[in-house]
Formats: sequence, C-alpha cells, structure tokens
Amino acid sequence: MYKEQQSKNDAFHVAIVMDGNGRWATNQNKPRFLGHQAGAERVREIVETAVKMDIDILTLYAFSSDNWMRPKPEVDFLMHLFSMYLKSEIQRCLKNNIRLSIIGRRDRLKPSIVKLIEKAEEKTKKGTQLHLRVAIDYSSRYNIVESIIKYKDQMNDENLQNLSEKLNMTNVDFLIRTGGEQRLSDFLLWECAYAELYFSDIFWPDFSEQNFREAMDEFYNRDRRFGMIPVAIAI
Ligand code: IPE
Ligand code: IPE
Ligand code: MG
Repeated sequence: MYKEQQSKNDAFHVAIVMDGNGRWATNQNKPRFLGHQAGAERVREIVETAVKMDIDILTLYAFSSDNWMRPKPEVDFLMHLFSMYLKSEIQRCLKNNIRLSIIGRRDRLKPSIVKLIEKAEEKTKKGTQLHLRVAIDYSSRYNIVESIIKYKDQMNDENLQNLSEKLNMTNVDFLIRTGGEQRLSDFLLWECAYAELYFSDIFWPDFSEQNFREAMDEFYNRDRRFGMIPVAIAI
C-alpha cells in the first residue's frame, strides 16, 4: 500500500539518519561506543521490517564525511563495526534476497574495508527484494560537486532525470531522522527534493519496528503534491 504514495515510476525509497547513539549511551552512563554497538544491532530489525513492508530502496546514514572529525578511538570503533557488519551480513542479505551497496567515498577508507565492501556488493548484487544502501564517508555536497565535474557536459534540463539515475541519485520518498535533531547533516540533499520528512525524538538504538511502522503510517497519510494542485481541484 505504501508504494501507491511514491512518485510515478520511481522505486519506493526510504532513507534514515540513524542519530542518537552517543546520547543513548551517555543517558545510561555508558561509553559512547556502546551506543554505536546497540545502534548497529538495531539496523538488522529495521532492515527486516523494510523487507516486510515492501520498500524497494533503504538508504541508511552510518558515517558522514564530517564524522572523521570525531575523536580517533570513536572513529576507529565505528570502522571496526562496519567491518564486522560487512562480514556478518552477507549471508543474511543472500538469504533475504537483499542487494547491499555502500555509498560514499572509498579513497579514505582502509583497504581492508574497501575489499569487504567490494566482496559484499559482488556477492549480493543479484538481490531484488530490497536494495540496502549504507552511507559511509558520505557527503551529499561532495557527491553533487563530483557529479557536476564528471558530467557537466551532459547536464541539461531534459536528461537531468536520466543522469540522476545513472549517478544513483534516486529520489527519496520518505526521510526519517531519529535522535531529536531536525536537519539533514549533508545527507541526500539532491535526492530529498520532494521527500517527506519525519523527525523522531527516539534515539536510534531504541527505534523499534513499531516506531518504524508508525513513521510509515504517517507517510501514508501525507498529501504529496510535487508542485501541482490536488487532482480534485484541477478537474
Ligand atoms: C549517530 O549517532 C551515529 C554516527 C554519527 C556515527 P551519534 O554518534 O551522532 O549520536 P549523538 O548524536 O552524539 O547522540
Ligand atoms: C549525522 O549525524 C550522521 C549520521 C547519523 C551518520 P551527526 O550526529 O553527525 O549530525 P550532526 O553533527 O548532529 O549534524
Ligand atoms: Mg549525532
């Protein structure tokens, strides 16, 4: 039923800014890294829910390009978590017919992580149930500038949509941000042109299947107009 809400011909795309891991931990007098660990565990349940809800593309913001500015032990721990995730999730993705892709820069990641990414992408490339995209060292502004430099000669009004698809810049239908902040933090700026935005105060490690379903119910009740006027008034 959610698919009916999407813009015509597009895959149904949900994106999530998984924020609030650090505060979740601090509130319980735990070190921040335990918040990241709990956050990583939460991902599995949300991905399974996305499969059940027939979402085509799920893009998760795991590490922004600005997150490199965090203390080294925190960054190192996050990189360790990504490695563990990439190793453990291949089988699960295959079982659930999920295609896993990592978006973002690769030139600043450790070669061992890049290898794991390539392996995971190769092994799961035939998945058709859900395209799971995890953003690591991701900056939307960087992505846009890089695309302009690369494709500036091909850019015109007519082929903008084709070009967006070629660059994997598929429209986002619904963007969720957990953790109470109401900003995009350099995530999918181009793709969110007509996305419905949803902000939850719940910290990511606590964001349950039920919370995800509530968010989706709200999406279902939104009235998307894409710059037009309601059909009933137009006729
Ligand atoms: C999101 O949680 C995960 C990453 C940015 C890697 P945070 O670590 O930003 O958690 P808060 O916002 O400090 O609570
Ligand atoms: C955005 O969260 C990045 C991720 C969730 C991975 P941040 O916590 O880094 O964003 P700001 O600093 O609050 O804007
Ligand atoms: Mg944060």
